[in-house]
Parts: sequence; C-alpha cells; structure tokens
Amino acid sequence: MKITRGGIAFFDSGIGGLTVLSACREYLPNELFYYYGDNHHAPYGNLPPKKIRRYVRRAFNLFARLKVCAAVVACNTATALCIEELRKHYSFPIIGTEPAVFAAAKMGGEVFVLTTRATHESERFKKLCSEAKKKYPHATLIPISCDSLAGEIERHLNEGGYDFTAFLPRGSPDVVVLGCTHYIYIEEEVEKFYACPVVHGNGGIAFQLRNILSKMGKLATEPTKNGRDGEICSHSTTSQKRGVFFPHKRAAYPNNATKNGEIIFLGKCKVVNKIQYEQMFVHKNRAKMAVGGQKEQKN
Ligand code: DGL
Repeated sequence: MKITRGGIAFFDSGIGGLTVLSACREYLPNELFYYYGDNHHAPYGNLPPKKIRRYVRRAFNLFARLKVCAAVVACNTATALCIEELRKHYSFPIIGTEPAVFAAAKMGGEVFVLTTRATHESERFKKLCSEAKKKYPHATLIPISCDSLAGEIERHLNEGGYDFTAFLPRGSPDVVVLGCTHYIYIEEEVEKFYACPVVHGNGGIAFQLRNILSKMGKLATEPTKNGRDGEICSHSTTSQKRGVFFPHKRAAYPNNATKNGEIIFLGKCKVVNKIQYEQMFVHKNRAKMAVGGQKEQKN
C-alpha cells in the first residue's frame, strides 16, 4: 500500500514536540503523522541560531521530499528563529509553536514566561511580549530563560523522582507560561511548585491544524477499518546512520504500509522518540484508569 495522502510532519529538537503531537492526535485521530525529533543535537536552547536554522532546514527538506500536506514546528525555539524563513521556502502550510503570553497576560498579575535562552533572546519573542504588554497593561510579564531545564528533561524524564523543580526560577508568579514544549512534561510539578495556573498552547495548535487541514480538504475523516486506533512505528532503515528516512527506500519498511493514526518516526533518534511516545501513552492510560476506575479497566 502506498502513502495516499501527504501526512502531517512534526518537528522538535527532541522529545518536547511529542506533547504537541499527542494533543493533535487526540483531536485528529485518523491522520498520518511524521515525527522528527533531533535528539542527536538537543537541546537547541543554548546553540547559536545559525546552527539551529541549519538543523531545522535539514528536517524540513526531508518533509518536502515526503510531500507532507502540512508541518508543525513543535518547538518554540525553532519557531522563534526559523518560522518566517521556513514559510518562505516551503510551499506546504507550517504551524508554529509560540509561548502563550497573550492567554497568560489576559489573566493579569505577575506572569513568568519560561523559555530557552535562544527563544528568550529572539526578536520574535521580544515582539510577542511587547504586543501582549500593550494589549494587557495590567499584567507584568517576566520572561525568564531556563538554560538547562530542557536538557535535563530530555535526559532524565524517565528517571522516577528526578527533581526538575531545582531548575525553575524562584518567585511567586500569578501565572506561568511554559514556553518550551519540553516543559509540558513537568506541567504538574510546575503548577505545584508555584501554586498557580500554568498555560501552554498545545490545544490551540491542534485546533489550528484541524482548521487548516479542513480548509485544504485534507482531513481524514474515515474511521479506521481495522479497528486499531493508530499504530506507533519507528522504521529502521539503512539510512538511519545518516539520520534521515528516504522515501525511495520505503520498500525496506515493515509492510510498506500506512494506517490511519499511524506515527512514523524520522531522524537519527527515531527509536528514542518511539519509546518516549509509547511511555506517554502508558502514563495517560493509567491516569484514565485512575479516573474511570473499574469500568475503564474492563474496556
Ligand atoms: N522543545 C523546544 C522548545 O520548545 C526546544 C528545547 C531545547 O532543545 O532546548 O523550545
């Protein structure tokens, strides 16, 4: 079976964008997804912008070759540095990820906007904050770069009991913006640590993506016939060494097939991303069972 529609590509420096993909997949369960997490070079936050742009372009060249129908830059850092250039260069629609400063500023009070250093120093982010300040003058925006937090999450997320709050800035904000997709994994810890609401834009991205696909007439609406709610796979190919997946080598992939809701992991660290995604599912299902009790468990 051939890939009949382009699929939607997600990009992040590492595992952070999986939180965005997960939100989108819940909203759009029948699409074909590609996930390119550049764990090999993560974290991006303290890299020079030129390097970040080069790595992002590498992934997007691959997306272009796959003829994706849309792409999501599931990374605030890459969005801050590259989104304009990417939109100029590629013909498919590209959705970015930006710190939810407007939503937070609207709530008022002292707003901590936590981002990577590269986002913090970018012109795009500065502009975003100044526009939000103008619109909501009653809010005090405090942008803070958390230099090592994304890297700590990338490396230690699956170590039970690891204290990520040691890498959070001290203070008593009224609301916190998680301006890096890696931080979304520790949303609950952040909420408890500051005892205040925490916001991010993943829900908005899913909504936007759905609208774009729907306008393009590319929304996959048919339910899965094989009864499987999506397949998570990570193809291992001979091109793995080069960190890419080449469409012309597709014959080497299991079944050479795509299914609704499937995720195809790309890039050098595809196995890392696949495992991380599966763990997110286990975690979510456990949470669901805890809420739904016996009834959920039987299903
Ligand atoms: N997850 C990314 C972001 O949203 C980048 C984190 C990093 O690699 O430093 O900014």
